[in-house]
Amino acid sequence: MTAPQGDFLAACRRQPVERTPVWFMRQAGRSLPEYRALRGTGNILDAIRTPEMAAEITLQPVRRYGVDAAILFSDIMVPIAATGFGVTIQPGVGPVVDEPFATPADLARIRPLIPEIDAPYVAETVKIVVGELGVPLIGFAGAPFTVASYLVEGRPSRDYAKTKSLMYREPALWAQLIDRIADQAIASLLAQIDAGAQAIQVFDSWAGGLDAEDYRRYVQAASAKIFAAVADHAPGVPRIHFGVHTGELLGAMAEAGADVVGVDWRVPLPVALTRTGDGVALQGNLDPVACVAGWEATEPKARAVLDAARGLPGHIFNLGHGVLPQTDPDVLARLVDLVHTETAR
Ligand code: CP3
Repeated sequence: MTAPQGDFLAACRRQPVERTPVWFMRQAGRSLPEYRALRGTGNILDAIRTPEMAAEITLQPVRRYGVDAAILFSDIMVPIAATGFGVTIQPGVGPVVDEPFATPADLARIRPLIPEIDAPYVAETVKIVVGELGVPLIGFAGAPFTVASYLVEGRPSRDYAKTKSLMYREPALWAQLIDRIADQAIASLLAQIDAGAQAIQVFDSWAGGLDAEDYRRYVQAASAKIFAAVADHAPGVPRIHFGVHTGELLGAMAEAGADVVGVDWRVPLPVALTRTGDGVALQGNLDPVACVAGWEATEPKARAVLDAARGLPGHIFNLGHGVLPQTDPDVLARLVDLVHTETAR
């Protein structure tokens, strides 16, 4: 019998499932021809500000793949953009900031987000989506370290040299910066939940640039504040915490308070659980590059993930990071089928 809340929410809560649920980070995006057709060449922030279009993009992968959850079409930089910091998202590059964050005076450029005034289109999109969707919608926000890295570096970075220098040299300013980002994330997540999102994910994609001691000293409190605020406002809404290259941080990230911890492909799931400790579900962790290499490469690696996950208290199948743009959508469709068939109880 299907768990009444559906397999995705059940797995997040480490309750029995009919079949292992599966969704893909970046499932709504450039690997889908219907996405490219709808988006055209316009700016992604404009698409996000257009609820009918953003809702349709959110729904496209659910229809095509039969995944167990939808992820809102938006971006981690939306709150920062909506409050006027000055950020663009450049195709093939990512977020770019003209005047990076550097001094205490820049704090004034990060004001509180008032979702219904600054970014009403997000809740509108959520409402349209949940009205049409048969599976839960995952809302999301960027974690403080990852968003701060764009504000301080001005663009994507390999080593986060400016970000970590600010963190080491001006810890008080750093703490204020990431606390403001955390407050924006909280406001955005609560608005998404109030509009109908049934789970949330906090993307700390670049936290893997930190060692565990620095993560605990400089970052954990701001991320923990987000998870606590969501639990306070909406007890029972599952909270997912994700990052890449975070094998050494899984324990510290679990301490921040999520219900589900995302694992990249470098750490086998049972090993990940020894690091997070019991009490959380795990999400992951197929290498997204396997899918680019075609079904022959994908199938054995996907089966290996399922084997590793057998017997875990809660498993949500996903990739270890987002779908790469060059991925053949048919591979992802077959992957969803494989996960569902192989895990049918
Ligand atoms: O299916 C989904 O996940 C869609 C919603 C979504 C987007 N961005 C849309 C998007 C989500 C959840 C994000 C989160 C996001 N944005 C993260 C965390 C997730 C991760 O992959 O680590 C990060 C780091 C960003 C910042 C950002 N925005 C990057 C690095 C890029 C890619 C730049 C590029 O072109 O390679 C973007 C742009 C972006 N956001 C695209 C999409 C579909 C691609 C550009 C486009 O289609 O216009």
